[in-house]
Parts: sequence; C-alpha cells; structure tokens
Amino acid sequence: MKLLHVVGTRPNFVKMAPVIAALRRLDPGGRHVLVHTGQHYDRMMSEVFLEELGVPAPDHLLGVGSGSHAAQLGGVLEAIAPVLTAEGPELVIVPGDVNSTLAAALACAHLRIPLAHVEAGLRSFDRTMPEEVNRVLTDQVCDLLFTHSPEAAANLAAEGVAADRVHQVGNTMIDTLVALEDRFRGRRACVGHGVEPGSYVLVTLHRPALVDGLLLGDAMAALASVSAALPVLFPAHPRTRAALGAAAGLPPGLRLLDPVGYLDFLSLEADAAAVLTDSGGIQEESTYLGVPCFTLRDNTERPITVERGTNTLLGLDPERIRGLPELISTPREPAAPPPGWDGHAAERLARVVADRLAG
Ligand code: UD1
Ligand code: UDP
Repeated sequence: MKLLHVVGTRPNFVKMAPVIAALRRLDPGGRHVLVHTGQHYDRMMSEVFLEELGVPAPDHLLGVGSGSHAAQLGGVLEAIAPVLTAEGPELVIVPGDVNSTLAAALACAHLRIPLAHVEAGLRSFDRTMPEEVNRVLTDQVCDLLFTHSPEAAANLAAEGVAADRVHQVGNTMIDTLVALEDRFRGRRACVGHGVEPGSYVLVTLHRPALVDGLLLGDAMAALASVSAALPVLFPAHPRTRAALGAAAGLPPGLRLLDPVGYLDFLSLEADAAAVLTDSGGIQEESTYLGVPCFTLRDNTERPITVERGTNTLLGLDPERIRGLPELISTPREPAAPPPGWDGHAAERLARVVADRLAG
C-alpha cells in the first residue's frame, strides 16, 4: 500500500492514531506517509497527542499555523499539493471537519488522487458553522466514506452520495479511548487540581459562536455561580484563553487551566460529575464513558449522543449553565454505547482500504 494521512488539529490526532496503526499492522511493508498541516502547533495541542497516542513523527510538516479561514485553507492547499505530487499515494485519508480536512480534500480532487474520509456524513444542518461546510464539501469529493453513526448514511444519500462508497465502520475516536483505558482509569488527574472524583464539572468551550463575542462573559459569570455549589475545571482552548484575556477575579471554585494532555483529559472526563462543552469529540467520548454531557449549542451533528441519553442540548444560552447543579442531580439510565463504538473501528476500516486497493 502507498497511503498518505493528513492531520492538523487536536481531534484529528485522536481520530487518526488507530487508523494509521491498523493500516501499518495490516501492511507493515507498505508506505504510510503522515502529513501534519500545523493548523494546531502548541505542544499541548499537538505534540503531546503524538506522544501519548504513539503516532510516528510526521513525514511532512506544512507549518500553516493560525489565520483566517482563507489563509488556512489556501495555506494547506498550496503547501500540500507538491507533497501529494512527490509522494504519489494510492489513497489519501483525512479525518473530521476542520479547515485542514477540506483543503487536503480539495488538493486530492484537483490532482485526481483517491480520497477517504474518516467520520463522514455527520451533519448539524447549520451552514453558519465552518465545520458543516467543510464536512459537506469533503464528502462530495471522496471515494471512500467511513461513517460511525447510523444517520450518516441517510445524510449522505440525501446529498446524492452513492451507497457503495459509504462504509459504516464505527468510531475511531472511541478506539483511541478504549486503547488507553488502562492508562487513564485510576489516573485521578482531578486530585492534582484539588478536587475529588465525582465532585466537579469539567468544561471546554471553544466554538467561535460562543467565545468570539459577548456570550463568553455571560458563560463565565454563570460558571462562577455554579462553582459556588460544584467545583468547575475548565481547561481552556487557546482561542478561548485569548478571548478571556487576564480573566482576573475568578472565584476559587472555578479553575481555569491550560489545555491538558489526552490521558489527563480522559481521566478528568471519566471522573467528572458532568461535562459542559461545545466540542464534537467530547460529546462522543462522554457517551462512551456514560458521563452526563451538557452541550452549549443549538444543534449537534452527533444526534446519536442525545438519543443515547448522555447528551443534553442546552442551546447557545449561557444562562442555562446556572441550572447545572439541578440538572446533574437528575438520575439517568446509563445507555450502552452505539454500535461500532467498540475499539475495533480502525481494524474494520483498514480491511475496507485493503480490499479497495487490492480490487
Ligand atoms: C479548529 C477547528 C474546529 C475544531 C478545533 C479543535 C476549523 C474551522 N476549526 O478550531 O472545528 O473543533 O480546531 O480544537 O478548522 N491557537 C493557538 N495555538 C494552537 C492552535 C490555535 O494559540 O496550537 C489559537 C490561535 O490564536 C488561533 C486560534 O487558536 O487563531 C484558533 O485556532 P484555529 O485552528 O483557527 O481554530 P480552532 O478554534 O482551533
Ligand atoms: N482534549 C484534550 N485536552 C483538552 C481538551 C480536549 O485532550 O484540554 C481532547 C478531547 O478528549 C477530545 C478532543 O481533544 O478527544 C476534542 O478536541 P476539541 O474539543 O478541541 O475539538 P472538536 O472535537 O470539537 O472538534
């Protein structure tokens, strides 16, 4: 096999680590090229994931960095085209819905290189989100579409994607979680932050709709009020941290942290009384872990997490955060994880790739 994988952001590493590993196991003599666009570049947004997830060092670092959508899309498109031409892969694999994903997909389309998409078919039906545009366009130019949710195939069919290109393999992000379960269970990262397991709310917020405007201040005020009843741990994405500025005068129960590594984050997530988030990946991980998740968005491209009962959409309404102590105390039935969220998705995906390249 001659494969090329593209990663660029924190969630990309989590989704692709098991895919790269499974394909290497299936074809140890093959060529497995890894391209890192550099969309995320801080150590705690990038390198720590490669280390903890055992991803080999990237073969190509594009160094695209931060900027407008235009700058990121254009930067990746321009930088990746010569790499694709020089490497001549039989298939390129891209994950998720970030700018790096769409730019790499467009480059493959222009160069007529077969393309596969991990996490295809998710839809929020909200085109104000750049991720929704990135997902729809990426899926349109893909040859192989790997899905992890039952509604994904229906979404793709409605957009005219031929069914024989779609493969329901399951959730590779959950593969990573399962593979690391021995290392994060019992890690008790929360104790290092001065709180006991089961006693706190874990918060991540990074979507522009929330953090790039006045709503972030409202959310912080609401979190401060919650922290009087329940400690709040908030590892802040660099976008959020920049928007918060000095964030002086926070109450002692509200702990604003730098982003934490993946093992520590999973430990914090598994031991939390609940999570409050606008992250896509964390809605999925909390579903697998059976931890109540409250999503501060009007919609989700992951409705299965709501159907399973772990995830509650609060709406893009920071005032609703104030009700968290009461919401958390409402008993819930733990639900089984969705089919294919079982630690073996990447193996199934690798077999589809091998069959496709052999045929
Ligand atoms: C991107 C994705 C989003 C995904 C998120 C995962 C797009 C359009 N958005 O959003 O879908 O959920 O990644 O975390 O692709 N920054 C740093 N250091 C870093 C990375 C970013 O300081 O290593 C800061 C920069 O100020 C940058 C800002 O964060 O401008 C935003 O980064 P960017 O990659 O543009 O978007 P994210 O908000 O990370
Ligand atoms: N994550 C992490 N450390 C943090 C915050 C998140 O390791 O401080 C992990 C989390 O477990 C999940 C992924 O990063 O696997 C989610 O990334 P993010 O929320 O940035 O992106 P999204 O999933 O919304 O695209």
